[in-house]
Amino acid sequence: MSNVGAAGWDPRRIRVFDTTLRDGEQAPGAGLTAEEKLEVARQLVRLNVDVIEAGFPAASPGDWDAVHRIAMETRGVAVAALARCRDGDPQRAVEAIRVAERPHLHVFIATSDIHLKHKLRATREEALAAAVQWVRYGRKALGPDAEIEFSAEDASRTDPEYLLRVYEAVVDAGASTVNIPDTVGYAIPSEFGRLVGAVVERVGSEAVVSVHCHNDLGLATANTLAAVQAGARQVEVTINGLGERAGNASLEEVVMSLRTRPTQFPDLASRVSTEQITAASRLVSYLTGFVVQPNKAVVGGNAFAHESGIHQDGVIKNPLTYEIMTPQSVGLSGSTLSIGKLSGRRGLQGKLRQLGHELEGEALDTAYREVIALADAKKEVTDADLLAIVEQLASEAAPVTSDTVVLQGWSVTSSHGGRSQGSVSLTVAGESVSAEGAGNGPVDALFGAVDAAVGPVLGWHPVLAEYEIRAVTAGEDAQGQVIVRCRRSSEGPDGPVQTGHGLSTNIIEASLEGYLSALNKLRDAVVREVRA
Ligand code: KIV
Ligand code: ZN
Repeated sequence: MSNVGAAGWDPRRIRVFDTTLRDGEQAPGAGLTAEEKLEVARQLVRLNVDVIEAGFPAASPGDWDAVHRIAMETRGVAVAALARCRDGDPQRAVEAIRVAERPHLHVFIATSDIHLKHKLRATREEALAAAVQWVRYGRKALGPDAEIEFSAEDASRTDPEYLLRVYEAVVDAGASTVNIPDTVGYAIPSEFGRLVGAVVERVGSEAVVSVHCHNDLGLATANTLAAVQAGARQVEVTINGLGERAGNASLEEVVMSLRTRPTQFPDLASRVSTEQITAASRLVSYLTGFVVQPNKAVVGGNAFAHESGIHQDGVIKNPLTYEIMTPQSVGLSGSTLSIGKLSGRRGLQGKLRQLGHELEGEALDTAYREVIALADAKKEVTDADLLAIVEQLASEAAPVTSDTVVLQGWSVTSSHGGRSQGSVSLTVAGESVSAEGAGNGPVDALFGAVDAAVGPVLGWHPVLAEYEIRAVTAGEDAQGQVIVRCRRSSEGPDGPVQTGHGLSTNIIEASLEGYLSALNKLRDAVVREVRA
């Protein structure tokens, strides 16, 4: 019952395969730009995951490009790309990841009768033949040292005897990892553990057995842990449990379970730097616009908060009374006052390093300028402020081109009971444009003015789908972090959504920044569509 030495893998290590940038990004409305994906990939490297699944290159030229850039730029980690077992997909994936230090091709095909009959309209034998064909292709294309992973989509609803036959056949064809997805989150831990045990028994001495659990019944983490106890040695997870529908197994829950309960997982550990978990969670939440629920395990705002007097009293006497892991172990320093006007670049760099962000060169200079400007506007610059600045810079990482819509100025008047009136001046496609708008409040009026300014030039304007404002810290001089999600007016209500971000001590300015950042991403997407 152990895949000892399979594909050179140390059987005492749990390989953490992060699929935030592939399955996570498939969550409706979680789309990221290539620059944002790179930012997340850099954080995943700091987190020390083993594999980054960077995307699905055949899905779009943009996805191919993002996977390729991550493969070129990240080191010390394997880069995986997903492909269906059909002509064209695996070739695109191989082209995108060939340059990676450790390429990891991930091919999949559905094996359950439900999927075969209604989705693929294929027989079991046809699916098996396609699986073997594309695993063999991957092994030949990438060579003996590459990782070739095969996933049997909807494995947990597949006839077990047929499933085992498929896994045996793909291992014979060269697969070094076989993945067991609980695609629709249907499995229950005890039964899933038995299924994983049977796969480990059959092919575990030749391949790493992996699991990929969805959370439709809230069991993704429990199923993943049951699988580890049954011999799985790769876990496919996402930051914050982001993913299709109810999401995927969450990295932080699985990794902290392994770390907190070593007697339940004897001699098994991941190499994840858990102190980077909070920074990763915040970054993914910010860039995708997906808020982390306050009571979310490990990374929720309340995960280490103690409200009742009895609990507070116990924690003060000894944190072990109510805390099974320390806030520091997941990167919550607990300190607030950090950096002021007189701190130098080096001090800022060191502080940011403690918070999980490695900045240098121009990125450090920009962050430094922002921090100094903030220190002029605000009494105290806290850790939360610094994180907000770094996140905002990550969301602005896309290069400014001559087509970028840039804010030149704005003004607004608003009074009790009346409609607000606003005006903006922008540069749109290299031209200066001004327009006015009226609305239900100052933000609405300014968004209307932006629509009036860009509509005639672009042929569409943004339509607001969601607007959220968060105060970064307490206090009347707090920065406002704004997340704006918009579609193009030329698309229906199902058109793709882009997320924009703004950050300022002036919430109207932050809102405008957020609206324009979403607008620019929508515009970039149009340019990419035209080029494709
Ligand atoms: O959920 C699933 O089945 C998947 C596979 C492609 C691994 O995401
Ligand atoms: Zn999935």
